[in-house]
Amino acid sequence: MEHPADNREVAGSSPASRTQCHAAVDFAIVSLDLFTRKEDEGAVLRSTQGNGMVVLSGSNSRLLAEQLAHSLNWEHHQLETRRFPDSEGYIRIPSETIEAVRSEPVVLVSNTFPDAGIVETLLMLEAINDVRKGNMENLREIGPQSMTDVGPGILLAVPYFGYSRQDKRFKPGEAVSARAIGHLLASRCDGIIVFDLHAPSVLQDLPVPVAFTSAMPELAHHLQETVKPDFILSPDKGAIERASMVAKEIDCEFSYLEKTRIDAHTIVHKAKNLNVDGKTVAIVDDMIATGGTICRAAEALRNQGAVAVHAACSHGLFTGGAIARLIRYVDGVHATGSLSNPRDVISGGPALARGVNELFERLEWKL
Ligand code: R5P
Repeated sequence: MEHPADNREVAGSSPASRTQCHAAVDFAIVSLDLFTRKEDEGAVLRSTQGNGMVVLSGSNSRLLAEQLAHSLNWEHHQLETRRFPDSEGYIRIPSETIEAVRSEPVVLVSNTFPDAGIVETLLMLEAINDVRKGNMENLREIGPQSMTDVGPGILLAVPYFGYSRQDKRFKPGEAVSARAIGHLLASRCDGIIVFDLHAPSVLQDLPVPVAFTSAMPELAHHLQETVKPDFILSPDKGAIERASMVAKEIDCEFSYLEKTRIDAHTIVHKAKNLNVDGKTVAIVDDMIATGGTICRAAEALRNQGAVAVHAACSHGLFTGGAIARLIRYVDGVHATGSLSNPRDVISGGPALARGVNELFERLEWKL
């Protein structure tokens, strides 16, 4: 069925044409809602049977949400997400999901990347809050207009936290963007699970509990199964904790490099003797963006005799031709699906599930 959003005219640049556009859309929404009313009422009736605990997702994290639901043995429900021609987002909790959202605590899986993900996440949290509070009033008078408030029970799981690298103020007047996004999200949920956050300290003072979870155990298992590394390298000091965790899991040697970033595309590593002659090495980082960090580290490893070099990370951003650049330097690239990417080979579900379990315990909610 065609969606109301599809009926919007393309907005012009003048305020007048934009107003006309919104008027046309409002009309389209009213007409189509009349058309779908019966179907919706049926769905509300069907949903009263109750669905148990649910994992929800919008447009950007469906796969991770399914993996999380699988790990928790919960149901996964997809929220309706659309985009108007002028690029604004539209979200809706389908009628058949409303009872599930109200009957038990829910986990919404959503990325704050790219920027549209921030707005979509906030809109979904807003709608979930309304439904749990019982604010159901709607112009078409579909279903009950108000219900009881079912209380707290909203967790947000963020596989890839966009803006995570903007976690410090380098010059006066700069926004600490990661913290700003964290506070916005915290205002609409009861707890947040963040998956391999670049620098967890930036979210430590939020007014809701935050579970920092990591896919490094699964990443270690995957590397051991497929690559059997002799040596794990952290390409900078920031990744030492994560990479050394992988080395410990695999029980192999570990070292790190000291990196200076000149600009977004230029990386310099301090020379260091690494004992990698004849060895298979895996470079482990939280994210790969341009690939510059990995390519420079791989060069240093090859120069010191490494026979095979692999790159592994939680977040495969792979911006601006990164994959093409990387395959000239490394023998394999391995990532989770925190972001949709062509090297998604490690499930993030178990890591998110550990975060959900941790928050249920801290909030004293029953599973
Ligand atoms: C930075 O500290 C991060 O941990 C990554 O090393 C970095 O963001 C990777 O970026 P790129 O792939 O562009 O070098």
